[in-house]
Amino acid sequence: VYLLVGGGGGIGLAVGEWLARKYAARLVIVGRREAEGVLAQKLKGLEAAGAEVEYVRADVTKPGEAARIVAQAKQRFGTVHGVFHLAMVLHDCALERMTEDVLRSVLDSKVKASVAVHAALDGEPLECAVFFSSGQSIWGNAGQANYAAGSTFQDAFGAWVREAKGLPAFVLNWGYWGSVGAVANAHHQQRLAQQGILPIEVAEGMDGMEAVLAGAAPQVMLFKATRPLLERLGVDFSRSVDVYAPGAKRLDARALEEASTWGRRAESDLRGAATAYADVEQWGRAVLLGALKRLGAVGPAGEAWDLHEQARRVGVVEEHSRLWQALMGVLERGGYVERQGTRIHVRPEASRAPDASGLETWKQRLLTTHPDLGHLISLLALCLDAYPDVLTGRREATAVLFPQGSMEKVERVYKGNPIADFFNGLVANAIRAYVHARVAEAPTSVVRILEVGAGTGGTSEHVLTALQELGQHVRYVYTDVSAGFVRYGAEKYGTAHAFLEPKVLNIEADPSAQGIEPGSVDLVLATNVLHATRSMGRTLGHIQRMLRTGGLVVINELTRVWDFTTLVFGMTQGWWLYEEGEGRIEHSPLLDAAGWTALLGQAGFAKAAFVPHATGAGQDVVIARSTGQAVHAAQTATAPEPTRRDKPVPAKRKQAPTPVLDLRAKTLAHVTTVFSTLLKIAPERFDPQATFETYGVDSLVNLSVIKQLEKDFGKLPATLLFENMTLDMLATYFMTEHAERVRTLFQEEAPESAPVQVKQPEAPT
Ligand SMILES: NC(=O)c1ccc[n+]([C@@H]2O[C@H](COP(=O)([O-])OP(=O)(O)OC[C@H]3O[C@@H](n4cnc5c(N)ncnc54)[C@H](OP(=O)(O)O)[C@@H]3O)[C@@H](O)[C@H]2O)c1
Repeated sequence: VYLLVGGGGGIGLAVGEWLARKYAARLVIVGRREAEGVLAQKLKGLEAAGAEVEYVRADVTKPGEAARIVAQAKQRFGTVHGVFHLAMVLHDCALERMTEDVLRSVLDSKVKASVAVHAALDGEPLECAVFFSSGQSIWGNAGQANYAAGSTFQDAFGAWVREAKGLPAFVLNWGYWGSVGAVANAHHQQRLAQQGILPIEVAEGMDGMEAVLAGAAPQVMLFKATRPLLERLGVDFSRSVDVYAPGAKRLDARALEEASTWGRRAESDLRGAATAYADVEQWGRAVLLGALKRLGAVGPAGEAWDLHEQARRVGVVEEHSRLWQALMGVLERGGYVERQGTRIHVRPEASRAPDASGLETWKQRLLTTHPDLGHLISLLALCLDAYPDVLTGRREATAVLFPQGSMEKVERVYKGNPIADFFNGLVANAIRAYVHARVAEAPTSVVRILEVGAGTGGTSEHVLTALQELGQHVRYVYTDVSAGFVRYGAEKYGTAHAFLEPKVLNIEADPSAQGIEPGSVDLVLATNVLHATRSMGRTLGHIQRMLRTGGLVVINELTRVWDFTTLVFGMTQGWWLYEEGEGRIEHSPLLDAAGWTALLGQAGFAKAAFVPHATGAGQDVVIARSTGQAVHAAQTATAPEPTRRDKPVPAKRKQAPTPVLDLRAKTLAHVTTVFSTLLKIAPERFDPQATFETYGVDSLVNLSVIKQLEKDFGKLPATLLFENMTLDMLATYFMTEHAERVRTLFQEEAPESAPVQVKQPEAPT
């Protein structure tokens, strides 16, 4: 049942016909005129088109009239589901000659009419309130100040109805209608065409309105004009906005409430944990000093050097230059050096710092005082011990953090320690509350949750357990850019949680190109991962695109820089990949609360909430709601090529012997099988020419692949997959470098001469 106030006018009757044909709607049409002559015929036409029509003669600006029509509508049809505000009186007049009566007659049809009708509809279960406003409230035509003022009021009133009354209100700022409505005549059409304004036809208008009503944008200008005019009006053609269908009710409040309650319970524990971290950190700074002394980078008290020159002198590789600079800050906080720009002065404290045995005693003391942090202390010790080798490029950081591809050492940083556990618990409870609320609202709903960068599942495990009882209502997409982590997650959690769906996803690239429909996800969860992306603006844009309108992003992130995170994760390239200029905290990829708020706002998220508040733990859970509008460049931006700074130059290959084609095919099949088994991708889905990155192969998978291949070929170089970046190249490598072994393995005898041309691998660019 729709109430069309001013529905007897040109556009109102067109809307009525659309509602009749499309929805066989019941219409209450309101106007001041008698329903006779042409109007009577048109109303009959609406009935013929499928509507039931009640025409009510009333001037809604008069006291009591709005209430009367609503009562009459309810008496006939029982309820009102939507209202279209189409009333208008036009009386053009230059402002200096405009009498109060003229001003009021025009204003009232927009101001009084809108207010009175909404007051009369108070309490009705409205599914839409549509305000037919005008482009005049944006640019203003000469002689239409009264109309422009009325339209401007309607824009603001529509926004108020939406925000304050929580109703799905839409404001449409129309351009010029050419074949129906108050100004559909040749004179107007000609005059406007000279300005570049083109007429909107009924079908176009209805399509436009339908799109707006199906979306989440509260106010849209529907305007047809030449491009030069649009440019003059300031339309930015470099960006476009995808507007998604409105989602179910806003349920972020439930998630937030739960998160806050959980947060309050543990605030004091968190403060205690923060103090413990600070103790460990102070020891870590002293151990770093020791490592840099061993490297010959830090000498006796009183010496001074330029940090860049010193890096060159001791051989710090380019890849670690950002880490190197950050380390100077760590030493300064330890009191060992003083920084003046790039100049470093070594302080007396550096000479007084404990030696190796002193540091060991300190470590033992810490292990006794903070047994909970034993894993962190060991990891820190392990990393710092490797620093001289890592900084100078003699050792890969991944080999230190993930020895033999094992995740064990790093895993404990993300789970099984008080702070991580607390935040994981908070996230799990907030998400459970959200799913509960969704199910309570719609008992058959299936909530689609997507975790970005699930890694070893530190957070996933908590969330999956919390959702277990709601399993039939959940699809949990466990994603990571690394196929190794996805495989790990699927194996570790897939059996116990049937609702888990593993998927490789690079959040830095357009998710729709990776099989995720825009607007198809209810909640995106990301724990300590988003900071690792190059452009946070682009990353948040991708998240926004995946989320349906009203969907939530739950970001569990460090919001301050702990020195131990720099010391451990700063060794990896991922920590330093971020682009400058997005407000990250100095010498880190992290953002503080203000930084997150700004970037989330720019990406089109509604105001972000942080829980819990200011515990000093330096970690927060940020919950923000998608407004359903993803702003992006008009031309689809291509995702950047992942940079691999340590990509070595391919070694010069020996001249290939002339193996038989069959043998080569078998070698290729063999290496394909190794990848297929480890990545759980069917062998036929591999393209021998595609680089391993295509399949999500990263340093972790790399280690597993090498381990597997070493069973057949003996010791292999750690850089094997960097130098041979496709299956084809890898097969060629084994054919050339391990020819004997290949022949033994595949039981073939190489003929004396086999004039088969082997495709030479191209050098990776
Ligand atoms: N036409 C365009 O190009 C254009 C452009 C931008 C925006 N719009 C907007 O689109 C809407 C419809 O425009 P339109 O061209 O279809 O205008 P229209 O043909 O003049 O229709 C407006 C209707 O409002 C009714 N009305 C006026 N005051 C009323 C009152 N106090 N109580 C009850 N009904 C009242 C009039 O019926 P009675 O005389 O019987 O009362 C009239 O039929 C308006 O809101 C207008 O601002 C139109």
